Amino acid sequence: MTTTPTDATTTSAWKDLTAHRSALTPDLRGWFAADPERATRLTRTVGDLHVDLSKNLVTDETLELLVRLADEVGLPGRIEAMLSGEHINVTEDRAVLHTALRRPAGASPALQVDGQDVDADVQAELAKVSAFADKVRSGEWTGVTGARVATVVNIGIGGSDLGPVMAYEALKPYVQDGLEVRFVSNIDPTDLAETVRGLDPTTTLFIVASKTFGTLETLTNARLARTWLWEQLLAAGAIEDTDEARTQAVAQHFVAVSTALDKVAAFGIDPANAFGFWDWVGGRYSLDSAIGTSLAIAIGPDGFRDLLAGFHAVDEHLRSTPFAQNVPVLMGLLNVWYVNFLDAHTHAVLPYAQYLHRFPAYLQQLTMESNGKSVRWDGTPVTTDTGEIFWGEPGTNGQHAFYQLIHQGTRLIPADFIAVATPAHPLRDGDADVHELFLSNFFAQTKALAFGKTADEVRADGVAEEIVPARVFPGNRPTTSIMAPSLTPSVLGQLIALYEHITFVQGVVWGIDSFDQWGVELGKVLAMQISPAVSGDADAIAAQDPSTRGLIEYYRAHR
Ligand code: F6P
Repeated sequence: MTTTPTDATTTSAWKDLTAHRSALTPDLRGWFAADPERATRLTRTVGDLHVDLSKNLVTDETLELLVRLADEVGLPGRIEAMLSGEHINVTEDRAVLHTALRRPAGASPALQVDGQDVDADVQAELAKVSAFADKVRSGEWTGVTGARVATVVNIGIGGSDLGPVMAYEALKPYVQDGLEVRFVSNIDPTDLAETVRGLDPTTTLFIVASKTFGTLETLTNARLARTWLWEQLLAAGAIEDTDEARTQAVAQHFVAVSTALDKVAAFGIDPANAFGFWDWVGGRYSLDSAIGTSLAIAIGPDGFRDLLAGFHAVDEHLRSTPFAQNVPVLMGLLNVWYVNFLDAHTHAVLPYAQYLHRFPAYLQQLTMESNGKSVRWDGTPVTTDTGEIFWGEPGTNGQHAFYQLIHQGTRLIPADFIAVATPAHPLRDGDADVHELFLSNFFAQTKALAFGKTADEVRADGVAEEIVPARVFPGNRPTTSIMAPSLTPSVLGQLIALYEHITFVQGVVWGIDSFDQWGVELGKVLAMQISPAVSGDADAIAAQDPSTRGLIEYYRAHR
């Protein structure tokens, strides 16, 4: 789509929001005191997610203006354009159809895009991944000695790693006994070495996951893994020292996931053992494609389909729910409010669920690779600040690390708190239900952030006057609380889709293409150019700028 984006800052809603912001004095204490219905009125539901927006720095008027902004920048049309397969990824001239990956079988009307029967292709590939996952889980798929797979090693980076590892960690209770998945991403050889340490090569299956099958880190790690496999199988006397035996070992211990099946074959992996997807799936939106094969093996095809159903529930909510009730739209607009009207630079995501410990890392790619842009989709400069920095750690660990700054620092940090009602491990400490203690921290933190503690309240505790200022909590620190019954595959899919669409909504308001990632290219090219210098090529060293030359010389002197 090469239309000119509407400049949000020229809309009447933006002007009204600017005036509204000037007149607004955030006062969560006062707002809650004056309005007992505030929490109820500002709580929304999407799928199984209970989303309390009431501790945000907004009034009803703020939300009305934000919803108007969404209409004035043409969000309804952009949602339809994405879901119907228009080429909204303009710089790569591609459709953006991760939502097609989770349409149920038989969805009507069928989705046809650019001459492709998208639904049929998605279902066919899902069936292939499912059949393979079943074979591995049942022991029908074996290594060269006939032993069943005990460990799957996913080799990938970025979207070919962060989604699978996050979801595997999140859904550990659903992983089949006797199966383990490990993940290698970094080209630091330490990563591969530590990941395969102690593994039995005869029971290890590698999945090389790369959309392009051209990513330096992944291909290097895949070659290292292949060498490791051959050496270990030879050392164990499991294969003969012949080319045929090596080829057979790769056939039984390596599969691939990619959109570039020709490159998979060139690596030596039988295309029959490769699972495909399509260029209209962005890397950071690809967990629910064949990139999720390691997860499908771990939790099984049924669990994987539950995950997809969770995604789809939120897609449908995005498509059909009026904006005033639409959770991803409202949360995306709130982020715009904080970034553009309240000068927030970062956004914390704080899961009170240890199984979600990789969720913030996953969100960093999703949000920052999507919206870390300075030009709009027509190539013109953005007209306002864009992507904020997402970060976070699971509660309660974060409470003992960085919450100090969120409570009492000078910066406004909107935060999302995420928790589930039913824990996977209902442990007790004597009389105490530990999950309840855990959740008490969630509730306490959002309460403290919203309402703070005044100087008079501190004094009432008998605190010496000179210490009072240090013990005051200003409050008015905004949070969104997201709760679900339990962390099922479906709920995880809902959470991920929620943040995918929040990211999209922000991108639309800012007029940017949230689906390209040109900002990662320059460093990749330079790394290849610098590589000869690092290896000692004198001309290449001389060609570097003084700082880079100095660093390379330091390395060469100390290696
Ligand atoms: O970091 C850039 C990027 O292209 C990501 O968008 C992508 O998820 C990652 O590299 C890995 O790419 P691939 O799956 O093609 O190996």
